[in-house]
Amino acid sequence: MKVRKAVIPAAGLGTRLLPATKAVPKEMLPILDKPAIQYIVEEAVEAGIEEILIITNRGKDAIENHFDISYELEKHLEEKNNQEMLEMLKPISKMAKIYFIRQQSPNGLGHAVGMAKEFIKDEPFAVLLGDDLFYHEEQNCLKSLIDIYDREKKSVFALMQVPLADVSKYGIISGNKVEENLYNVKGLIEKPSPMEAPTNLAVIGRYVFTSKIFEMIEETKPGKGGEIQLTDAMYKLLAFQGMYGYIFDGKRYDTGNLLGYLKTIVDYALRREDISESFKEFLKEKI
Ligand code: G1P
Repeated sequence: MKVRKAVIPAAGLGTRLLPATKAVPKEMLPILDKPAIQYIVEEAVEAGIEEILIITNRGKDAIENHFDISYELEKHLEEKNNQEMLEMLKPISKMAKIYFIRQQSPNGLGHAVGMAKEFIKDEPFAVLLGDDLFYHEEQNCLKSLIDIYDREKKSVFALMQVPLADVSKYGIISGNKVEENLYNVKGLIEKPSPMEAPTNLAVIGRYVFTSKIFEMIEETKPGKGGEIQLTDAMYKLLAFQGMYGYIFDGKRYDTGNLLGYLKTIVDYALRREDISESFKEFLKEKI
């Protein structure tokens, strides 16, 4: 079966970016002139995804509004005959079929993904975390994962090497290298201490799962932080099906903390043709 559905968990409280995230969902914070979540939806669509379920919570209405038609705005732009703006705005509500569901209490990433069971049914599907932006010059990260899924018919997710001091921020795997950039996963542990970590290979926010993951999530008890962890459900899945970890060789940005957010903006600005030269000059002057 083709991977054509995706889930974007966006129910986190964004506490690391308060007070900016008090009234604005962290997924709506701008990376230049686009909210972070639009880049994620674009990555999914570019990888062939047709239907997306975004898991939100109270206070995230702005995400729904962003992917809806903005009737008043479009009418205003039409009256002003501002075609350029219209061409940029109109496709946002038509990129894919986008659905929303609310996670009523912060029970963890595993629980949030579990809420997609009825939407996904028995298809393989993608998960894209709302905090993580990925950039690759040739092929986007999700597309690379889908290619591996199509070949192997097994769940697969993105990995990145991290300094040992940072392993406690991620899910960490153990496994055997089977080809360049590809690991056959043998074990998974959520946010281990550097002493506990079997490797420094960290799970980063793109996954493709078989629908068997839902049974595993249902059996998963609260783990780290008292939350139902996706990593724990993935570990359970290993007892039934093989799983691959793909080392992503592009750039990954964590927009969910202040320094990460700043670095993301600077890099995106340096890649943006219309402003990169003058922005570079400004940075040079400053430094
Ligand atoms: C989540 C996952 C973790 C993964 C990380 C990647 O953690 O639980 O396994 O490594 O995303 O960004 P969070 O960052 O939500 O604490």
